[in-house]
Amino acid sequence: MNAPVVIRGGTVVEASWNGPADVLIRDGKIAALLKPGAAVPDPAIRTVDATDRLVLPGGVDPHCHVGFTSGEFTSLDSYAECTTAAVFGGTTTIVDFAIPRPGRRPLDAAVAQRAKAGEGLCDSALHGCVVEWDDTTADQLKTMADSGIRTIKMFTTYAGESMANAHTILRTMQATRDLGGMVIIHCESDAIIVDAQTRAAEAAGVDAAHMACTRPEIAETAAVAEILAIAESQNAPVYFVHQSTAEAVELVADARKRGLVAFTESVAHHLVLGDGAYTGEGPERFVCCPPLRSAEAVEALGEHLFTGHITTLGSDHCCYDLDQKQVHRHDVRHMPNGLPGVETRLPVIFSRYVHDRGLSASRFVQLSATNPARTNGLYPRKGSLMPGADADVAIWDPQARWTAGVGQLHQATDYTPYEGMALTGRPTTVLVGGHVVVDRGELVDDTPRGRHLEASPLDFREMATGCIPAG
Ligand code: URP
Ligand code: ZN
Ligand code: ZN
Repeated sequence: MNAPVVIRGGTVVEASWNGPADVLIRDGKIAALLKPGAAVPDPAIRTVDATDRLVLPGGVDPHCHVGFTSGEFTSLDSYAECTTAAVFGGTTTIVDFAIPRPGRRPLDAAVAQRAKAGEGLCDSALHGCVVEWDDTTADQLKTMADSGIRTIKMFTTYAGESMANAHTILRTMQATRDLGGMVIIHCESDAIIVDAQTRAAEAAGVDAAHMACTRPEIAETAAVAEILAIAESQNAPVYFVHQSTAEAVELVADARKRGLVAFTESVAHHLVLGDGAYTGEGPERFVCCPPLRSAEAVEALGEHLFTGHITTLGSDHCCYDLDQKQVHRHDVRHMPNGLPGVETRLPVIFSRYVHDRGLSASRFVQLSATNPARTNGLYPRKGSLMPGADADVAIWDPQARWTAGVGQLHQATDYTPYEGMALTGRPTTVLVGGHVVVDRGELVDDTPRGRHLEASPLDFREMATGCIPAG
């Protein structure tokens, strides 16, 4: 049963405005935003107190790997586990990936991954993935688009696993554009990386302490420039995942000025953690691609949260544990890449950028919920609290002080890259489809109500103008 609820006393934060309002929820949807204290039709309605709290649309994580296999490793969480951690962190929609194992059809990978959505505590959508174009790819993309999978992940690196060549990328861009979809792409030049790794292996070594120099910034810049050129030649929209340098972000911003529909995603760890982590204890805990960058690069990247050149904020959640991270700690070429982060994405960015540096709460919502919903064909059903949206809500205490630590978190792993970090701000109560799932920090409803969300055809021009920074 989905009983009505009213959230009273809080400050509603949308991407384009914020202010005091009560939120009336009926049948799992936002029914109305009311003047504070306004009467509601049923006086016995359940009231959720949001005094001194921000009332945010639940976060939409546009980049979240669940049970992801790459090489010999599979990340450890199920949909139930990943979405439990997500809701504790204020995220109520995840967008996962269906990345085919070598030799497997993209469509088969998508069908298998989509079947897991029902185990989730919250809704999920999927990115498909193409590795090699063949005679069947166009039909597979059409079938995926018809079932609401319109964003297609591609990689310019990870040879032998998921890397696609330029021909495949171009063909996939053409086909997805015509289907109302978009290629989303991991850009690092494989040639530059293989060369850097080979030279490192002959010199300083390829253990985790040397991660940063095995994947230099220029590898990212080079790949972004090539992919932009391909996209511009086809007038195809393109979304760059986990951009880790200001230079890469600015290449995309310049292409946007030339008229290309192009987007930048940044992920929390590149905005908060620096490559000093590789010289400390347990550097393997921080091995991800692209790697963590210098403190100066982190600072320059973070500026683009303010300029508006960063469109979305993801987690790139990959739930490996310490055993997995340590198996090949002396050789980053064989380590599982990626960091757990679905639960920490919002609190870490809120603390470091909203609390510490004055990023507006509306811009935070735009980056972490509204724009990810837009770029994934889920807006305004997700990423907003306007009437008609799904009643996914994060009630947020902006003053809560806490220390990040694995004991505080719910991700299915035994470490967090943010261990010991002092943070300000976190969700206290989270509603999914009008159900209170987390209440004052406790999981009170673990019913798996997750649905696979079908992305609507993307309206590229509307998306491009809608994703500009909030005022
Ligand atoms: O290091 C990362 N990012 N691992 C996950 C796969 C990917 O490249 O997104
Ligand atoms: Zn990637
Ligand atoms: Zn990823």
